[in-house]
Amino acid sequence: MAVVADRCPGIQVHVVDLNSQRVAAWNDPDLSRLPVYEPGLDAVVARARGRNLFFSTKVNEAIASADMVFLSVNTPTKTRGIGAGQASDLRWIEACTRQVAAAAQGHTIVVEKSTLPVRTAEAIQTILSAAQGEGKSFSVLSNPEFLAEGTAISDLEAPDRVLIGGNNAEALDALAWVYAHWVPEEKILRTNLWSSELSKLTANAFLAQRVSSINSIAALCESTGADVREVAKAIGTDSRIGPRFLQSGPGFGGSCFQKDILNLVYLCRHYGLAEVADYWEQVVELNTWQQQRIARLVVQRLFNTVAGKSIAILGFAFKADTNDTRESPAIRIAQELLEEGAQLAIHDPKVSLEQISLDLGREAGVGEGSWHIASDPQSACGGADACLILTEWGQYKQLDWQAIASGMRRPAWLFDARAIADADAARTAGLQVWRVGEG
Ligand code: UGA
Repeated sequence: MAVVADRCPGIQVHVVDLNSQRVAAWNDPDLSRLPVYEPGLDAVVARARGRNLFFSTKVNEAIASADMVFLSVNTPTKTRGIGAGQASDLRWIEACTRQVAAAAQGHTIVVEKSTLPVRTAEAIQTILSAAQGEGKSFSVLSNPEFLAEGTAISDLEAPDRVLIGGNNAEALDALAWVYAHWVPEEKILRTNLWSSELSKLTANAFLAQRVSSINSIAALCESTGADVREVAKAIGTDSRIGPRFLQSGPGFGGSCFQKDILNLVYLCRHYGLAEVADYWEQVVELNTWQQQRIARLVVQRLFNTVAGKSIAILGFAFKADTNDTRESPAIRIAQELLEEGAQLAIHDPKVSLEQISLDLGREAGVGEGSWHIASDPQSACGGADACLILTEWGQYKQLDWQAIASGMRRPAWLFDARAIADADAARTAGLQVWRVGEG
């Protein structure tokens, strides 16, 4: 919405949330303290905030005065009840819809921005139509978001496409007009509601499938002497396959892929498509396997025991250029090593100690099966038997391996799950090196 405000100075954008702390953080005069770390976001907020971009807790007032309301709430995987572990929890989307139904005035276009199971718009429409009448009316559109974290601003400013689903031509035109301020008309795709909802889940499922596919081949490369980067390059030059999203690593993380695939799996089962459900579920299973495989391989190379050994973990975010740790591969890998009794020194340029504590479900400490935070990569590796790179932060590409290796206990290992470090320099410095997908 910050980018919409930035690109459309004539549109008043009110971002409202019930959480007053979060709203206060978005209003913080110190732009380095915005709740989300995203390259370029501070500049966008600086330009638009107070001009036509406002953050507040005045939810009802904002709904009443709006021509268009974007529902952008979280839809986590259900943890209990029917569909627990797979289905999306729609309680926030329903609560929001009811609030819009009650507070809206005149004609309001309601846009699903959250990623939702296909046919959720039907439920939204039903709730809204029950409130219709006396000068109050609604149209529902689906407008899924395709930005990726870490590149959100450039993805929004130059999207591959904008997708709008709906059955009402006037509402479709109104939303297309907003994007047309900066997106070429041919990139604004219009579909029916269900295609739009399903396209979002399908896009993430296909992307995640590429990651699981290349990670499965990485394991085979390690066993056969092939190199997954050479294989990825060789297949990626086929224009039908394409070069992107073929980087082998510790598996996909983030708030979307796993949640959306499980949602797809749940939908398939619901519609009686057991084989289709199994097919997609395997993409998630392979991802979990890849993370376990890496944790076990570390233990194996360290003489089958890491109890009491120091291991440096470089990177905790699910990918570079974000402070987001949701479903980060680092969580499962760190937990497995803690279970084995390792002492982890964790470094990440953007993730806080509090967040790591929450994710690992235990406070920082000392002794077997403990972790602490390190202020830089070199101090993380001090006295360690191994250094494990889990996030592809730019700074890990330029580490001084001579200096790092001199502080480690020999024989020492570099486990590079992102294959970004200078492996030759690490080897010259006397480290044994494992790189994902290198036979
Ligand atoms: C993903 C999609 O890429 C977006 O298009 C979508 O809008 C978003 O989910 C969403 O549903 O909101 P995101 O999760 O932010 O975006 O990040 P990605 O860049 O897709 O990376 C996901 C995971 O896959 C990361 O852990 C990343 O390290 C991993 N990955 C990605 C690989 O291991 N190899 C690759 O080649 C690419």
